Amino acid sequence: MSSSRVQMQGESLPSGEGDLQEALKARAAAVTGLLDELLPPVEGPRGAVIEAMRYAALGGGKRLRPFLVCETARLFDVPQDQALRAGAALEMVHCYSLIHDDLPAMDDSDLRHGKPTAHLAFDEAIAILAGDGLLTEAFTVLSDPRTHAKAEVRCALVAQLAAAAGAAGMVGGQMIDISPERSGLDLAGISELQSLKTGALIRYACEAGAILGEAGAAERQALVAYAEDLGLAFQIADDLLDEESTPEALGKPTGQDANLGKATFVDQLGVETAREKARELVHSACARLDLFGQKSDLLRQTAAFVVSRRS
Ligand code: IPE
Ligand code: IPE
Ligand code: MG
Ligand code: MG
Ligand code: MG
Repeated sequence: MSSSRVQMQGESLPSGEGDLQEALKARAAAVTGLLDELLPPVEGPRGAVIEAMRYAALGGGKRLRPFLVCETARLFDVPQDQALRAGAALEMVHCYSLIHDDLPAMDDSDLRHGKPTAHLAFDEAIAILAGDGLLTEAFTVLSDPRTHAKAEVRCALVAQLAAAAGAAGMVGGQMIDISPERSGLDLAGISELQSLKTGALIRYACEAGAILGEAGAAERQALVAYAEDLGLAFQIADDLLDEESTPEALGKPTGQDANLGKATFVDQLGVETAREKARELVHSACARLDLFGQKSDLLRQTAAFVVSRRS
C-alpha cells in the first residue's frame, strides 16, 4: 500500500511510513553490524562454513524479527544493546531456516535476497552446515551474560527460542508444509501450519522483548496476541507476494506455492479476500497494544507495514 494512510474497515491508521522506514533502516544496519562482529571470518579448513554463514546472515533481508525484539523490549526500557543481541540471535535462526528452506530437498530455490542461494553459492553440504552453525551459534549469543545479567532471564530466552524453532514450532510447520497432506488442508489447517512455520519465530520476537524486560503476565500476553495476529498477516502477505510479485522485486522466486500445489490462504480465499483477511488481522494486532499507549506506535506501524510491503 503506497498511500500514507492504511484503510481498514472504514477507519484509517497512521502508517507513519517515514518514521517506520527510518527506524527499520537504522535497526537493520545495527543488527547487520552486530552479526558481522558475532561471526568473524576464520582462516583454514573451517573457513568455508563461516563464509557461508556470513553470506546468509549478512546478505540482506528486512530484519523484521530483530526489529520486533528491539521495539517490544523498548516498551520495558531494556537497554538496546541487550535487545539487539537477542534480535541477532533470532535472526541467525531465521537465516538458518531460509538456507534449509531453499535446499533442493525443500523448496529448491535458486534466489534469495537477490543473490544465488547458499547451496548454489557454496554447495549443498556447506549450506546444510552453515544452517546448523547459525542455529547453534544463536544459543551461544543468548546464553552470554552480555545478553542479560540474570541467568534466569537468559535461560528463559534460550528455552523459548528452542521451543519456537523446534518440532513444536518452525520445524514442525516446515514438516507440515512438505507433507503429502499439505495440498488438502482447509483454512483451519492452513492457519495452524502458518502459525508454526512463520508465526512461532515472530511470536518469539515479541516474547523476547517481554522476557528481557521481565514484563508482567498481562503485558506478555498482549504482546503474544499481537504477534499471533501479526505472524498470520505476515504469512498471508508472503503468499500474496508469491502470487503477485516478481523475482526482481522480491529477490526470491515467485509462483512457487502454486507450482508446488500448496494450499495457502490466497489459493483458498482468492487474492482479494486474503488481502482483506490480512488487513483485519492488522487491525486486530493493533488493538492488542492498547495497554502500551503511544509507546507502541511503531509496533502498530509495523503491523500495517507487514501487509503493505513490496518485498
Ligand atoms: C521470509 O521471511 C520467510 C517466511 C517466514 C515467510 P522474511 O520476509 O522476513 O525474510 P527476509 O529475511 O526479510 O528476506
Ligand atoms: C518458509 O516459508 C518459512 C521458513 C520457515 C523458512 P516459505 O517457503 O514460504 O518462505 P519463502 O517464500 O521461501 O521465503
Ligand atoms: Mg518453504
Ligand atoms: Mg521457500
Ligand atoms: Mg513463501
